[in-house]
Amino acid sequence: MGILAGKHVVLGVSGSIASYKIIELARQLTVAGALVDVILTEEATRFITPLTFQSLTYRPVYTEMWSTLENAAAHIKLGHDADVVVIAPATAHTIASIAAGFANNLILTTVLATGAPVLLAPAMETHMWHNPATADNVALLRRRGLQVMEPDEGMLASGMVGSGRLPEIGRIEAEIRALLGRGAGRMVGRKVVVTAGGTHEPLDPVRFIGNRASGQMGFALAEAARDEGAQVVLIAGQTSVPLPLGVEVVRVETASQMHDAVHAAIEDADLLIMNAAVADYRPAQMADHKMKKTEADLTIALERTTDILQSLVTVTQPIKVGFAAETNDLLRYAADKMRRKGLDAIVANDAVSSIGQSEIEVTLLTSDGGSQRLPRQPKPAAAQQILERVLHQWPDRLGRKTS
Ligand code: CTP
Repeated sequence: MGILAGKHVVLGVSGSIASYKIIELARQLTVAGALVDVILTEEATRFITPLTFQSLTYRPVYTEMWSTLENAAAHIKLGHDADVVVIAPATAHTIASIAAGFANNLILTTVLATGAPVLLAPAMETHMWHNPATADNVALLRRRGLQVMEPDEGMLASGMVGSGRLPEIGRIEAEIRALLGRGAGRMVGRKVVVTAGGTHEPLDPVRFIGNRASGQMGFALAEAARDEGAQVVLIAGQTSVPLPLGVEVVRVETASQMHDAVHAAIEDADLLIMNAAVADYRPAQMADHKMKKTEADLTIALERTTDILQSLVTVTQPIKVGFAAETNDLLRYAADKMRRKGLDAIVANDAVSSIGQSEIEVTLLTSDGGSQRLPRQPKPAAAQQILERVLHQWPDRLGRKTS
């Protein structure tokens, strides 16, 4: 189950031309299992209707502070029940009103009354965003512990180009997940290092030896750990899908750079998941200029890269999980790799049907002889199940830290 399942998300929509984009956010949160209570300001109802949200969230939508609520304390009830309060779009006026502590609409009373984390996704014309009044209000809200996202840059409704666009819906959802994870996640206080993607080993300034890894599986694992509240360091090689949000990303190109980044990151880590497709060989020499073709055939001399997991074979902290992508004798090779590399667990998968694909079928082997097969499923779901299994296996070393 994902972090959003069963969570109360209060979604406050203030009036902006970007208000219509929040329909998709409400839908995505609901699909992920959240109970989404939408509050529309009067201005927002000029851009979108309560019925649209009601149809997508299957819940009442709140518009008028006094008429829709059943008792005198109800204007604080939404904030009280919330696991997270999200204001999107947050207009300059709403931001200023929250900063000043005003309480003349239901979004504002909810923010005043809630103990839950509050996330603001601003949207406004670029001059309004950069105006010192708005900048001061944003700085004040951040000092008070509210989370104010940076707006996106680009073409604005005014025709201007600049900063002020509502952050992408995917960014807002990632922030909501990360906030919920920090509150209720089972890995709060833990540090997880994930490697993802493939390495590129340069032949000359323009050519390299690489592989088809997309980064999807590693990214899904990083997101799953983030959603459980862990501090995540994602060491990403070459990838072809958007980077996850709410995690620290270290970009590397070569196996050697990944080796150094992993060694630096694992010092105080609780879990290392080596999902990256690290090159086993690199060109023995890198030409410092573009190689020109000649009459003779070309032979490239290769040398071995350092095996990163092997270099950690005597390290017992963090817990180490490797991946084995094979084309044949999957479980035998995977079990052998786990032993040879001194791993606590290994995720075995068929190389051909998973690398670069959006779905994966895996078998998780643990060093105590355990074996669990997970059906072919989208990589985010597989990542959640792998993490679930690992958490179950080492609850004391990976579970939420109380102190
Ligand atoms: N790995 C690593 N360093 C390398 C190569 C691989 O740490 N230089 C890690 C991978 O991230 C993965 C695991 O080792 O978690 C297994 O990778 P794989 O390439 O399948 O293993 P190899 O030992 O290189 O075996 P093979 O002979 O099958 O290539």
